[in-house]
Amino acid sequence: MTSLGLIGAGMIANIHADAIKRVGSKIVAVHDPRMSRAEEFGMKHNCEVLETVDSLLARDDIDGVIVAVPNNMHAELAIASLKAGKHVLLEKPMAMNLQQCDEIISARDKFGKVLQMGFVCRYSPAALRAKQIIESGELGEVLHVQATLLRQRGIPGLGGWFTTKAKSGGGCLIDIGVHLIDLAMSITNKKSPARVFGKCSQAFTSQTYAYEEMWSTPIEGGTFDVEDRVRALLTDASGTTFQFDVAWATHLPENTLKDGLLIEGTEGALVVDLWADEMILGFSENGKPMQETITCKVTEAWDDAFQGEHRAFASAMATNNLDSNAGTGEDGRLVQHVVESIYSSADLGQEVKI
Ligand SMILES: NC(=O)c1ccc[n+]([C@@H]2O[C@H](COP(=O)([O-])OP(=O)(O)OC[C@H]3O[C@@H](n4cnc5c(N)ncnc54)[C@H](O)[C@@H]3O)[C@@H](O)[C@H]2O)c1
Repeated sequence: MTSLGLIGAGMIANIHADAIKRVGSKIVAVHDPRMSRAEEFGMKHNCEVLETVDSLLARDDIDGVIVAVPNNMHAELAIASLKAGKHVLLEKPMAMNLQQCDEIISARDKFGKVLQMGFVCRYSPAALRAKQIIESGELGEVLHVQATLLRQRGIPGLGGWFTTKAKSGGGCLIDIGVHLIDLAMSITNKKSPARVFGKCSQAFTSQTYAYEEMWSTPIEGGTFDVEDRVRALLTDASGTTFQFDVAWATHLPENTLKDGLLIEGTEGALVVDLWADEMILGFSENGKPMQETITCKVTEAWDDAFQGEHRAFASAMATNNLDSNAGTGEDGRLVQHVVESIYSSADLGQEVKI
């Protein structure tokens, strides 16, 4: 059985903890500077609460850690964990910038431990099925991917660290857009982004936004200096195009567009709702447009995905090798590069080379 420590005891740490227990790994200890949170987590998940990160990293009975803290702390804590000889499952985004990504990758190589990126959408049952279909060649050559993640009222912890650029590195793009960018590029195996044009803006301000429950709670009078919507068009070196539509908040009626991908190939097209148990395959038979519904086994898609991620992490720790579907440090860096390029395109108002 693999034994884990949690660095950070916030919202996502609790989701990890549930998945860790379901896949049969053990939670040994947690650290969070907000002791009340750590203690609540310790009670709920039956683990020790440690007052410092160093005391957690010094424990011989911990094989690996989950780094689940605000984005500006990712690099420092991932590197400290690798240096202490722990395997690391690092929440997305990888870091605040490319230099930090490089430092994390160097630490992984220097200390010879597993580094898995928390790109959990790769493990949604629908994404796994879609990947099989693409790899089977049924769609032919992939021409275009439309990737969508549009929330109605989903600004996480409005006024807190998520909406404060110095702590998050950006808004919805670096928060949820990273999932889409990673999934679209990994599922199609198109990992040579060449050019991108992006537009980022803030349509909802704290004055006009009616807060509904979202990760953590809103902070009255807090900072909101990041984008809440992004549109980007990216071209891969192979010629495949990607369109990313991401927003934390919109006026779109609920469920107008599902979280997911529309993948168009030369032989077929696939419409994938990331959290559903079926997807639609479009193809042509004797020149006529046809369609077929393809099902996949789902218990609760979001939980299934986190369990998949933790099964992969447990197996990687046992073998010192990531499974082929897992997000690597290089994948995390590539996504960071695309994110930075979209931000610079938006600043310049023109297409940029990646
Ligand atoms: N995979 C996903 O789908 C997903 C979803 C949500 C968040 N995330 C990522 O997970 C991370 C945490 O997000 P969250 O929603 O849990 O945020 P959160 O604000 O709910 O929790 C973060 C916790 O980290 C703690 N913390 C701050 N500094 C720390 C330190 N030095 N050591 C230990 N703990 C520290 C905070 O006190 C807080 O309790 C972020 O990087 C976020 O992008 C991923």
